[in-house]
Amino acid sequence: MTPPAYLDQAATSFPKAPGVSAAMASFLDGFAGNPGRGGHRLTVAASRAVEAAREAVAALLGAEPERTLFGPGCTFWLNTLLDGLLGTDDAVVCSSLEHNAVMRPLRWLEESRGVSVHPVPASDPHGVPEPEEVAEAVVRTGARLVVLAHASNVSGAVLPVEEIARAVAPVPVVVDAAQSAGSVPIDFARMGVAALACSAHKGLLGPTGVGILLLAPGFELPPLVRGGTGSRSESEQMPEMLPDLLEAGTPNTVGIVGTGAASAWLRERGVASVHAHERRLALRAAEGLVDLPGVELPGWSPTAPRTGTFSFCVRGLDNGALAHRLDRENGLLMRVGLHCAPAAHRRLGSFPDGTIRASFGPFNTESDADRLVSAIAAIVRATGSNPEDRRQP
Ligand SMILES: Cc1ncc(COP(=O)(O)O)c(C=O)c1O
Repeated sequence: MTPPAYLDQAATSFPKAPGVSAAMASFLDGFAGNPGRGGHRLTVAASRAVEAAREAVAALLGAEPERTLFGPGCTFWLNTLLDGLLGTDDAVVCSSLEHNAVMRPLRWLEESRGVSVHPVPASDPHGVPEPEEVAEAVVRTGARLVVLAHASNVSGAVLPVEEIARAVAPVPVVVDAAQSAGSVPIDFARMGVAALACSAHKGLLGPTGVGILLLAPGFELPPLVRGGTGSRSESEQMPEMLPDLLEAGTPNTVGIVGTGAASAWLRERGVASVHAHERRLALRAAEGLVDLPGVELPGWSPTAPRTGTFSFCVRGLDNGALAHRLDRENGLLMRVGLHCAPAAHRRLGSFPDGTIRASFGPFNTESDADRLVSAIAAIVRATGSNPEDRRQP
């Protein structure tokens, strides 16, 4: 049987970048000390490995190494940012395409601190806000902060975060780059945003359990978590210098080593070429699906800036049953439902049923895209061209 086609890169990348598992095994088997804790040779070797990984990630994303922080995930850094930057009764503006990693902390801050949350509905049919629309919302609400997904995890739309940052300055913009880091070229130093958070395990092609935070020069953020750092051990206060201030507790050193290896590989391969490849496969698949009777692609636009992710459903067929069948009979592995982004599905008109999401990575091929199109075409043929009469096959 042909091997399955993994089209769930937006959930987590698979396979990982070449060299990731070898780097992690060599750290675990060879020098797995605790970085920054003491001065013996394994500690020093582990510290060097973490700093090398920090430099590799910073070089890939155009950030300063000392303002490139490691934590347990993108969700952790988004919580740290929103909790640290929003005080009692503050207002915050976001897009209407945000993931629950942004919306749940915001709703909690709304309940606990009286923060008012203002998603921009956007005149664009697919919910991508114009810079002027965000600027208008900031002025109208007196927002202290703007938080934006760089790319939607449902439709793959890329938001113009740089232009928005210019339009709302000096109000700081925080970017959720979970779906763009490694998949869309990022030059943090030129973006004009205050902070950017992402995970290592998606487009960056690294392991789970590592999140990255980039902070602009001079932009300050209090820690969410306090504890040992291996530095200034005489003090019961957190050290003020970075990265220590924001990196309390023993880090996921083996994951960080894997993240460094993945970043070095991506830099060599070139994120622009990965982006072009992923986008081309998504366009190939979506263009094959869009004309099939009853197939809908919420948020789809062939021309707008996008990642290699898009969503679809087949009218008259249950998404869950269809995705299960595509896995079992066609070896097509995709995530179904609301993708932790009910706000985005509401905006795109696919709430509450959600969609099936196809997402392509650097190791997917044209034949993966074609396999998706022919499987759906066969199902549409078998279930009839009138979606109203369709029954679950
Ligand atoms: C847009 C977006 N933001 C944030 C996250 C959270 O990432 P993680 O679960 O790796 O912390 C995800 C994960 O799917 C996402 O797609």
